[in-house]
Amino acid sequence: MTDVSGKTYWLIGASEGLGRALARRLSDEGAHLILSARNAERLHSLSAELADARVVALDVTDTAAVRRAAADIDELHGVIYNVGAYEPMRATEWDSDTALTMADINFTGALRVLGEVVPRFVRQGRGDITLVGSLAGYRGLPAAIGYGASKAALVSLAETMRFDLKDTGVVVRLVNPGFIKTRLTQKNSFRMPMLMTPEDAAQRVLRAMKRRRFRTDFPAPFSWLIRCVDLLPDLLVYRGK
Ligand SMILES: NC(=O)c1ccc[n+]([C@@H]2O[C@H](COP(=O)([O-])OP(=O)(O)OC[C@H]3O[C@@H](n4cnc5c(N)ncnc54)[C@H](OP(=O)(O)O)[C@@H]3O)[C@@H](O)[C@H]2O)c1
Repeated sequence: MTDVSGKTYWLIGASEGLGRALARRLSDEGAHLILSARNAERLHSLSAELADARVVALDVTDTAAVRRAAADIDELHGVIYNVGAYEPMRATEWDSDTALTMADINFTGALRVLGEVVPRFVRQGRGDITLVGSLAGYRGLPAAIGYGASKAALVSLAETMRFDLKDTGVVVRLVNPGFIKTRLTQKNSFRMPMLMTPEDAAQRVLRAMKRRRFRTDFPAPFSWLIRCVDLLPDLLVYRGK
């Protein structure tokens, strides 16, 4: 079991939803936090509640801002990339700017952050990386242009890092949640199975962070269903579609 107490985590995507709830849980467990997202006001109101938290507002699409923020952090034990943008979109209603923005925030933003953090962790021979993906990253789903592909890319990135960083002292973990009741899912008009509160989801992420297991998908049995669909032949999945 990894103890988060006394360790410094850079939590990116901390201002709302899952990230905000996770910041509270990590702080309750004695972690020091660096809180990032775009909305500085929301971050400051959160940090005022927490025992030891510093605000570094930034936009992950801004490479210079990410570099500056990373360079300003002295001691760092772990990073949590929880940033996410989602707009439901069908291929028949393609909006290029929206799709590109989702890809930039969900995936390229992670590359920007990891590009600063991973070499540093490898040099220091330790570090803890948590990437928040999505069950939507396992299989192309309807009306998820931009979102699904960017989460699939994040899953692939984590899997590659898991191979490459073995034996470096750097721990990589991938956490793939199902539906959480946040401003992102307010955009969905369909019924969302096993919808979780941000607090429940944050508790599950914290539990995953304390383990060394690479991949955590939740909530079961919804996550099992998604993984099973991934194993089905195309003939069955696309039958009649
Ligand atoms: N909700 C779900 O059902 C669900 C399911 C599976 C996975 N997830 C994943 O869980 C994570 C958290 O999502 P959530 O549901 O909690 O959504 P949320 O409430 O909208 O939170 C997203 C966070 O990302 C930050 N963010 C967005 N764009 C950013 C940018 N360009 N630069 C820096 N920060 C940015 C937001 O802060 P600012 O707006 O202040 O920048 C916010 O703190 C995401 O990775 C999401 O894809 C969510």
